[in-house]
Amino acid sequence: MALYIPEDVIETVRNASDILEIVSEGVQLKKSGQHFMGLCPFHSEKTPSFSVNPSRGIFHCFGCGVGGNVFSFIMKRDGISFPESVRTLAVKYGISIPEKEMSPSARREESEREALYAVNKEAMGYFKSVLFKSDQGKIARDYLKERGMTAAIAEEFNLGYVPDGWDHLSRYLSGRKIPRPLAEKSGLIVSKNGERFYDRFRNRIIFPICDMSQRVIGFGGRVLDQSLPKYLNSPETPVYNKSRSLYGLSRTRQALRETETVHIVEGYFDLLALYMHGIKNVVATLGTALTREHVRMLSRCGVTKFVLVFDSDDAGVHAAARSIPVFQKEYVNADILVLPSPHDPDSYIRTFGPEHFRSESEKALGIVPFLADSAIRKHGLSIEGRLAVINDMKPVLGMVEDSVARSLYIRDLAHKIGVDEKAVLEKVQEHIPETQGPVQDEPRAGRPQVHVQVSRFGDMERQIVAMMLQYPQMIEECRNHGVVEYFEDPCFKSIGRMIMEYRGDMNTMASILTTRALDEETRRTISALAIGDIPYLYKNCVNLLHQYITSRKKMDNSLSQRIRLAEERNDQELLIRLIHEKNMLSKTMKNNGLSQKKILNSGIGGGKSI
Ligand code: UTP
Ligand code: MN
Repeated sequence: MALYIPEDVIETVRNASDILEIVSEGVQLKKSGQHFMGLCPFHSEKTPSFSVNPSRGIFHCFGCGVGGNVFSFIMKRDGISFPESVRTLAVKYGISIPEKEMSPSARREESEREALYAVNKEAMGYFKSVLFKSDQGKIARDYLKERGMTAAIAEEFNLGYVPDGWDHLSRYLSGRKIPRPLAEKSGLIVSKNGERFYDRFRNRIIFPICDMSQRVIGFGGRVLDQSLPKYLNSPETPVYNKSRSLYGLSRTRQALRETETVHIVEGYFDLLALYMHGIKNVVATLGTALTREHVRMLSRCGVTKFVLVFDSDDAGVHAAARSIPVFQKEYVNADILVLPSPHDPDSYIRTFGPEHFRSESEKALGIVPFLADSAIRKHGLSIEGRLAVINDMKPVLGMVEDSVARSLYIRDLAHKIGVDEKAVLEKVQEHIPETQGPVQDEPRAGRPQVHVQVSRFGDMERQIVAMMLQYPQMIEECRNHGVVEYFEDPCFKSIGRMIMEYRGDMNTMASILTTRALDEETRRTISALAIGDIPYLYKNCVNLLHQYITSRKKMDNSLSQRIRLAEERNDQELLIRLIHEKNMLSKTMKNNGLSQKKILNSGIGGGKSI
C-alpha cells in the first residue's frame, strides 16, 4: 500500500476516531470539568497530569509536555509514523483508504518498495522452510541447538537456513516468477557484470531483519564453521537502511515501552539469547555504530534508559567515547555495561543466567564515569598515571555540552584521583569550545517541550493564540486587525497563521491544526494552549487584542522615529544600535529557560487576569 494518504481521508478518519475511547484503551480516565484526567502513559507519575478534552479532540500532559490529537497519541503510544497511525485508526473504525494519486515517480518507487518487501518475504519463507522442514536443514538445526537456541525462538524470529550451492534461492525465486532485476535489487542475488547470477547467502543460518511493522527489510547470515566472513548482511536497498534498522525491535518494542529501558547489544545471537532468557528489552545494532536515528527510534518507543552492552573494556571504551555526541544530541543519557571477559551477552547469560545479567545491568555506569574508571584502571594512580587519566578525560569532558553536568563530572573525577577540582578544570578548559553556550541544536528529539516565548511580546502573543484556539469568535477580530502579522515569536506566528488559514469546523480546529503542525514543539504548544480552561471574558479578549496592537505599534513607531533622527544626525553608532534593536524585535531570541509549568501558570493555566 502506498504511504501517501489524501487530506480528506485523514479528516474522515480523524472525525471517526474517538480520542476518549482510544486513550482509555490504556489509561484510566476520570471526568473533571469538561476534561478527563488520568496518569500519563508517557512518563511515570503518581498524580494525574494527563488531560483529554474530547470535545476539542486533543490531549495534553502538564507533567511531561506531550500533547496532540488522536493521531499523535497513537504515534507516540505505538512508536509509529503518521501514515501508520492513520491506517491503524482507519482499520479500527472500518474506513477504507483508497489508493490515490502520487506523482508517477513516487508511485514507481513506492511500488518498487512494496515489491522488495514481497521478495524478502518469499525468501524468508524459503529459508525458514529449509531450516525447519528439510533434511539439508538438519546441520543448521543442530548448530542452533548446540548454541542453546530453542525451536520456539527460531520460529518466533523466523530464522532460516540456506544450503551450500550457488543458486538455491535464485531458482526458488525464479520459480515464484520473481523478475531477476528485482531479485538483484533486493541484494539477495548478486551478478557478475550483469550476467552469471548467484546467491549472496550460501550455506548460512539466516536472520531476517524487520522494520517496526514487521516487514522484512534485509537479512544477515552466519556460517556454521570458522570460515570467513563470519557474518554477511544484505547491502543497503530502497527498503534497508542500516543506520535506521535495529535487529529485534519489531518484537521487543512492547518490552521497551513497559520497562522504558533498552539493552543495546551488537550481535544477532546476543539478542536472541537475552530474549530467550526473559530479557526482552533489547535490540542489536549488528556491528555498526549506533546512530542518532537509532536513538530517536528508541526514544519514540518510550525508552528513557539506554544501556550499551559490550564484551570487553576495549570495545566498550572505544564505542562509548564515540557515542557520547550521539546521545547528547538526543538529550538522553546512556550507561555502559561491560561483561567480564571472555563473555559476550550470549555466553554470559547462558553461563550465569538472567538474574546476574539484570543485576550487572543495574550497576552499569554512565558513559563519563565509565570512561573515567577505565582510564584509572589503565593508568593507575601514580603521579604519571593521574596525569594520563586527566589527559584521556580532557576531550571526553570537553564533549559534554551541559556545563552543569560537566562541572559535576569534573568534581567526580577530581575526587576519584585525589586532585584539586580547579586543577582538573583548568586542564579541561582548553577542550571546551568557546562558542559553546546553551545547546542550540535541533529541538529535542527525545522530549520536545511546549514552546517558550522568545520575544518581549511573546507572552501576549501566546495569550492571543490561546484565545483564538478557545474563543473562535475572536478569530475574525484578529483577522480584521491583521494581528498575527505583527507577531514576533516564530512559533506563535506559525500557529497564528495556521488559524488564519483554517476554514472548517471550529470545534475540531485544535485537533486538525495538530495534524498540520510540522514539528513536535508546535504540536505540543497547540495542545497546551487549547486544552487549558481560560478564565477570560470575551471583553477581556478584545482588550488584550487592542493592548497588544497598541504596544506593537508604539514600539515600532518609536524605534522608526529614533532611527530617522539618528540618520538625520548622522550618528552612526546609535543608528547601528537601533537597527540592531529593530532586528531583534522580529528575531528569535534564545529560549529563556522558563519551565512549561511556569508559562502556563503565568498565563491561561493559572488564570492571571489581563
Ligand atoms: P561478533 O564478532 O561479536 O560476533 O560480531 P557474535 O555476534 O558474537 O557472533 P557469534 O556469537 O560468533 O555468532 C558482532 C556482530 O557484528 C556483525 C554481526 O551482526 C555480529 O552479530 N558482524 C560481525 C558482521 O556483520 N560481520 C562479521 O564478519 C562479523
Ligand atoms: Mn557471540
